[in-house]
Amino acid sequence: MKTRESGMPEEAVWSRFFDPEAIFDALQLGADTGDTVDFGCGYGTFALPAARRICGTVIGFDIEAEMIGISRQRARDASLPNVRFEQRDFVAEGSGLADRSVDYVMHFNILHAEERMRLLREARRILAPGGRVGIIHWNHDPKTPRGPSMEIRPRPGDCHRWVIEAGFTVTDPIVNLPPYHYGLVGRK
Ligand SMILES: C[S@@+](CC[C@H](N)C(=O)[O-])C[C@H]1O[C@@H](n2cnc3c(N)ncnc32)[C@H](O)[C@@H]1O
Repeated sequence: MKTRESGMPEEAVWSRFFDPEAIFDALQLGADTGDTVDFGCGYGTFALPAARRICGTVIGFDIEAEMIGISRQRARDASLPNVRFEQRDFVAEGSGLADRSVDYVMHFNILHAEERMRLLREARRILAPGGRVGIIHWNHDPKTPRGPSMEIRPRPGDCHRWVIEAGFTVTDPIVNLPPYHYGLVGRK
């Protein structure tokens, strides 16, 4: 089942809202990061630059065949060998990955989902000890050019609480990710 309000504008519009390199720097995804999973990869906005940066492989999941097709084509165009995309409903089916098998999980612009605790617990299950979940979301500000409706848009404190509830440790402060986002990291 597709998570609520997870539609996106066209890729050229969407990509203008983010600076992936600055986000990775802030959320501890670096050259030493191993296998990484992107839950709801969309256009591959983060999966592709993550693959260029890390030493592991990126796996991007999305329920939409169109998103998977676009992401795969972009990876081919960029000749990126260490990224793959799989059409999958991770709310209904989980990730299908083994326990403790990956190093980093991206939950980017997805935790407004009603099933957020299921997603966070799945992230924790597949992460190796010491692995990280990185979260970004739209600022809790009605003036942002996109983002879920304010009624369901999580505040930074909500994400912080959910990550702890899912069993992660959060040691670093919530970071501002201009122009429109904030982020945090949970450690298993
Ligand atoms: C708001 S977009 C965010 C995309 C990407 N994380 C980003 O920040 O650029 C949410 C994405 O999650 C996907 N999605 C929603 N529900 C899903 C589900 N149950 N299983 C897999 N993907 C899902 C949507 O198709 C969409 O591409």
